[in-house]
Amino acid sequence: MDVLWLDQNDVRSLLNIPDAMDAVEKAFEQHGRKKVQMPPKSYLYFESHNGDLRTMPAYLEEQDVAGVKIVNVHPDNREKGLPTVMALFILNSTATGAPLAVMDATYLTDIRTGAAGGIAAKYLARPESRVLGIVGSGNQARTQLLAIANVFDLEEIKVYSAHRTRGEQFKLEMEGKAGCSITVCSSIEDVCDCDILVTVTPVREPIVRSEWIKPGTHINAIGADAAGKEELEPSILVCSRVVVDDMAQASHSGEVNVPLSSGVIGVEDICCELGEVIAGLKPGRLDNSEITIFDSTGLAIQDVATALLVYHTAKGKSVGKKLPMF
Ligand SMILES: NC(=O)c1ccc[n+]([C@@H]2O[C@H](COP(=O)([O-])OP(=O)(O)OC[C@H]3O[C@@H](n4cnc5c(N)ncnc54)[C@H](O)[C@@H]3O)[C@@H](O)[C@H]2O)c1
Repeated sequence: MDVLWLDQNDVRSLLNIPDAMDAVEKAFEQHGRKKVQMPPKSYLYFESHNGDLRTMPAYLEEQDVAGVKIVNVHPDNREKGLPTVMALFILNSTATGAPLAVMDATYLTDIRTGAAGGIAAKYLARPESRVLGIVGSGNQARTQLLAIANVFDLEEIKVYSAHRTRGEQFKLEMEGKAGCSITVCSSIEDVCDCDILVTVTPVREPIVRSEWIKPGTHINAIGADAAGKEELEPSILVCSRVVVDDMAQASHSGEVNVPLSSGVIGVEDICCELGEVIAGLKPGRLDNSEITIFDSTGLAIQDVATALLVYHTAKGKSVGKKLPMF
């Protein structure tokens, strides 16, 4: 029995943002109709190393596809020349349980996270949005930009990074791909003057203040994806329409986790899940002055849908290496 091994170069050559967005949108829609199995992520915390390791299994019942991702978050890895987030994905046959493919899922994670951000903005931001603000300039910031630029005719992008040189590098690398100018701002407040705001940093205390957010802004809150993490001042959540990717997962580890446990908001303040909006079961944005928030923790269904796309494309193009298992 063989297993298909796909390294990062293979995955990079097979994946693009528009196709990943289609796959991820369909997965969210199935999630909205409760046609998936997805136990909450399980975490191991390496406190002395400032990092964690997660396993993320899921089964998309209608597509009859299942798999599991193993992924870390180590914010200090940059200093060691490694990405903050690295991952491996195993795609399994639902008929026999046999592993069909094992693939690097580091780039896949970046792409599927960006894809979710682009889809959330499509459903929740004002359609005439032209200015994108990004707080953070790392790997996830790059794919958020690409996915949002795939949906909106952006005229301006503003970015803030705690490390100015990384912000300049981001501009250099992404301006051509974005199709519009990128301004490296010297304050988060400047970045918040936008139509769509993405927060995508590993901070554990709020860095975005309520008074900086204009009516009508849509926010993709991406960085908070583990218990105790938050990027937005909780009062922003109080006056916004909050849509989470998954209620159980977000309550535990999303942007809402700290405000929920401190009682600043209650579960009744969370409107719904993104999949319910996509499936037409719940409304998205209600008017142009509303502030909307997509609280993303990253779902295993995004990984399974994207990995299936990679697997099918790899088979079609004969990409990858067959490794004997037995
Ligand atoms: N929601 C999801 O699905 C999902 C998926 C992957 C990663 N994440 C989370 O997103 C975050 C970023 O991941 P990444 O892979 O882009 O990491 P990265 O290390 O590549 O980038 C992090 C960025 O944050 C910036 N930053 C750090 N501290 C800051 C501060 N105080 N103020 C402003 N900017 C600051 C850094 O300069 C850097 O540009 C992490 O917290 C990670 O856990 C979420």
